[in-house]
Amino acid sequence: MVERVDIVTERLVIRPISQEMAPDIFAAVVSSADDISRWMAWADGITYEDEVAFVDSAVTGWDQGVMWAFTFWQDERLIGGVGLNRHGMAYLRRAELGYWIRTEAAGRGLTTEAAAAVVEFGFRVLGLHRLELHASPGNSASHRVAEKVGFSKEGEHRDATMGRSGFLDTYSYGLLESDPRMVLDPLEFRAQG
Ligand SMILES: CC(C)(COP(=O)(O)OP(=O)(O)OC[C@H]1O[C@@H](n2cnc3c(N)ncnc32)[C@H](O)[C@@H]1OP(=O)(O)O)[C@@H](O)C(=O)NCCC(=O)NCCS
Repeated sequence: MVERVDIVTERLVIRPISQEMAPDIFAAVVSSADDISRWMAWADGITYEDEVAFVDSAVTGWDQGVMWAFTFWQDERLIGGVGLNRHGMAYLRRAELGYWIRTEAAGRGLTTEAAAAVVEFGFRVLGLHRLELHASPGNSASHRVAEKVGFSKEGEHRDATMGRSGFLDTYSYGLLESDPRMVLDPLEFRAQG
């Protein structure tokens, strides 16, 4: 199992999800559910029990090597979520990146900072070869995050994700370990406890 590390960047501490975070994650998602659920259906009408079930699956998923879910914090306040899910067989060393932020913290480059940090975790700590990302055609803010981190647009997919209004098409983005990408300085992987 990969050890849990906190990732420290200029403005953020990015922490692996743990059970005691459930109330903070739930409060952040509920505060921003209108914006998040437009593109991510799971946030629509989410209950605390749903959140606890997700947190449990994130903790188990880390231990099983299929999911590395983090929250990101500024000044000890949880402002968003970012993570990787294994995509395909383990030998492909491929994972999918996802992210969201509290509405009130958006527009300051913080998701880009968190996403770029988790990308480094994926390549340097997990030893991944390829990262993927799906964002719907209308989700311009997400396209910008992907492009700023270094992802290239590779394809279009019909009904490949779901927002609160139903299925949505997506653009897929890809980033190989050898591609040029955003450089974060400072960046530190800090062993927990
Ligand atoms: C996508 C999301 C995570 C972006 O978070 P953020 O913290 O605002 O992102 P950043 O500040 O790092 O970067 C946002 C970029 O998008 C741009 N942007 C924001 N809204 C935009 C819009 N409506 N049209 C075009 N560009 C837009 C910003 O100007 C910025 O780009 P810039 O640095 O070139 O100016 C946030 O909007 C969100 O949580 N959305 C809901 C959940 C979601 O869609 N997740 C991704 C699913 S694929």
